[in-house]
Amino acid sequence: MTALLDVAGLEVAFGRAKAVHGVSFALHAGERLGLVGESGSGKSTTVLALMGLIRPPGRVAGAASLDGVDLLALAPAAMRRMRAARIALVPQGAMNALNPVLTCGAQLLDLMEAHGALPPRTARHGWMEGVLGRVGLVPSVARMFPHQLSGGMKQRVCIAMATALRPAVILADEPTSALDVVVQRQVLRTLRDAQADLPGGGGIVLVGHDMGLMAQFATTIGVMYAGRLVEIGPVRDLFADPRHPYTRLLIASLPSFASRHRFRGIPGLAPSLRDPPPGCPFHPRCPVAGPVCAVDEPADTVATDGRRVRCHYPERAADAA
Ligand SMILES: Nc1ncnc2c1ncn2[C@@H]1O[C@H](COP(=O)(O)OP(=O)(O)O)[C@@H](O)[C@H]1O
Ligand SMILES: [Mg+2]
Repeated sequence: MTALLDVAGLEVAFGRAKAVHGVSFALHAGERLGLVGESGSGKSTTVLALMGLIRPPGRVAGAASLDGVDLLALAPAAMRRMRAARIALVPQGAMNALNPVLTCGAQLLDLMEAHGALPPRTARHGWMEGVLGRVGLVPSVARMFPHQLSGGMKQRVCIAMATALRPAVILADEPTSALDVVVQRQVLRTLRDAQADLPGGGGIVLVGHDMGLMAQFATTIGVMYAGRLVEIGPVRDLFADPRHPYTRLLIASLPSFASRHRFRGIPGLAPSLRDPPPGCPFHPRCPVAGPVCAVDEPADTVATDGRRVRCHYPERAADAA
C-alpha cells in the first residue's frame, strides 16, 4: 500500500542545534501516528517542517511527499495552497490562538475564502451546520466568540478548521494539553470521528507527551528523543515488546505500570541539541548502555520482523525497567 505521507530523512537545524535529525516514517490512509517524546525532543519542529512553516534561520532538509508531491520542495505559493486543503495543522496552543474579535463562524469562512472555497451564500448555513456538526458542535457556535466557549469546545472549533477543506492528512500538535482528562478523551474521539470523514480515510499525526493517552488513540507510535525517531511500530507491538530502552522506560512510567514496578520517572536530563554527547544521545541516561553506545550513534534499523529501532542493544530493552 502506498503511503499518504512519506517522510524520509527529515532534518531541521537552528544554527548549530539539530532539532530534528533523520526522521523517517510513512503514514497510510486510516492510520493514526502518535509522536511521543519529552519537551524539546523535536515533535513540533517535525510537524512544522511538514507544513513548510520553519522560518529562517531554521533550515530543513530531507524529503516529505504527500501523494507523490514533495512538500519540502514546493514553492511558497504552492505550499500555501496545500495547507489546510491537503495537509492541515492544529498547531500547539491553537485554541488560545483563535481570533478573539471574530466569531467562530467568521473564522471558518475566512479560511474557506483564503482557499477560494467559500460556500455560496445560499448554501452557507447548511455548510456551517455540517462542519460544526462533524466535530460535535451545535450550529449556534458559529455566532459565538472564542471567549464564550470552553476549552474543549475551542479545540473542537480548531479541529473543524483543520477538517473544513477535507485534507488527506491532519497534524495535531498537543491538542489535548491544558484540558481535563474527560475532555481530553472527548477531543480525541472527535479527532478520530473527523478522520473517518476524510476522503479515503485520511491520516493523522498526533503529537503528545502522554504515552497512556496516546496508546488509546494511535494505531502506530513513534518515540522521539533528541530530534531522533528512536522507535516506531504498531501500538500493540510497541507496548508488548518495546525495543528501545527509552520506550521501555516511558511505558514503565505510566501510572498503572509504575505502581506495580515502583518506577519513579526517568533519571537524568535530555541532552543539549547544540552540544549532543558523542554516540547515542540517550546513552548517558540509558540503563543498558555498553561501551559502543558512547562512541557510535546507532543507525535506524529495521529488524527481520519489520520493527524499527535506533539502538545498539534492542534485545536489552527488557532489562531497562
Ligand atoms: N525557532 C527556533 N529557533 C531555535 N530553536 C528552536 C526553534 N524552534 C524550536 N527550537 C528548538 O528545537 C528543539 C525542539 O523543539 P520542539 O520541536 O518545540 O520540541 P517539542 O515539540 O518536542 O517539545 C528545542 O531544543 C527548541 O529549543
Ligand atoms: Mg511541541
